Amino acid sequence: MKIVQSPQEMQRRALELKRAGKTIGFVPTMGFLHEGHLSLMKAARAQCDVLVVSIFVNPTQFGPNEDLDAYPRDFERDEALCNSVGVDYLFYPEPATMYADDASVWVDEERLSGVLCGASRPGHFRGVCTVVSKLFNLVLPDLSVFGEKDAQQLRIIERMVRDLNFPVQIVRGPIVREPDGLAMSSRNKYLTEEQRRNALCLRRSLDRAEAMVKAGEHDVRVLRGEMEHLIADVPDGVIDYVSFVDDVSLEPVERVDGRVLLALAVKIGSTRLIDNTVLVA
Ligand code: PAJ
Repeated sequence: MKIVQSPQEMQRRALELKRAGKTIGFVPTMGFLHEGHLSLMKAARAQCDVLVVSIFVNPTQFGPNEDLDAYPRDFERDEALCNSVGVDYLFYPEPATMYADDASVWVDEERLSGVLCGASRPGHFRGVCTVVSKLFNLVLPDLSVFGEKDAQQLRIIERMVRDLNFPVQIVRGPIVREPDGLAMSSRNKYLTEEQRRNALCLRRSLDRAEAMVKAGEHDVRVLRGEMEHLIADVPDGVIDYVSFVDDVSLEPVERVDGRVLLALAVKIGSTRLIDNTVLVA
C-alpha cells in the first residue's frame, strides 16, 4: 500500500492508472476507521483493479461550534486496517494542501440539503459536496462506495453526480451495526458506558416504527409519537429530528406509502448520533 499525501501526486498517479486501463474504486473517509468503513472498502475492492481510500477530516463540512478539533484520529491504526483489506493507495492530504487560502468555488446542492441534518448543520453539505468533487477530480474513480448510514449524504452525492455528470458510479453500502444494534460511527468513541447503553434508543425506535408499519399503522403522527416516547424515556437523550421523508425528494410525508426514508438524529449528552431505515409499504 502506498501512502500519498500530495494532491498533485494523487492525481498524477490516478491519470497513469487510467492510461494503463485500470479501473479505480474509491472510498472517501474521515478516518478513525471501523467495520462500516471497511465493508465499503471490501465492496469496492471486489469490483475494481485498484482501490483508493482517502482519510481527510474535511474542515469545510464542520460548523463553527462542531467537533472538528476533537474529531477522533488514529492514523497508524487506520493505516493497518487499510492494509488488511487490500487498499492500494491511501490518500492522506494535509488540509492546507486541499484548500487554497482564497478558495472561492463551492459545490452547493440546493434541493435535498436544507432538511434533516442540513437543517441543523447549515453549510455542512456544501462542504461535503465540495470536498467529494475535489476528491473525485484527484482520484478519478470509476466507482465510489458510500454508506447508507449517512442516508442524506448518499442521496445528495448521487444527485450531484447526476446533475454535474461526474463519470463515476455511486454504489450504496448497507449500514454496519454493533452486535447490539448501534450503528457503527467514529463518534461512538465519545460515549461513556452509560451513554453507550442509552444510544440504543435510536435503533430501538426505528425497530418499533418498522414493526408498527408492518402491523398496518401508516400514520406518521402516530409512528413519530411512539418513537419520541421511546427516546424521551432515555436520560441524556435529546431529539434533533425524527423525520419521515420521501426516499427520493426528501420531502416530508404524512403517511407511509411507497418508499419512505425514516431518519433521526439524537443527541446523547453532547454526542450527536444519526441512524435511519427505509420503510416500504
Ligand atoms: P465518514 O463519516 O468517515 O464516513 C465515510 C463513509 O463511511 C461514508 O460513506 C459513511 O456513510 C460510511 N459509514 C460510516 N459509518 C458506517 C456504517 N456504520 N455502516 C456503513 N457505512 C458507514 O462521511 C464522511 O466520512 C464524510 O462526509 C466524507 C464523505 C468522507 C466527506 O468528507
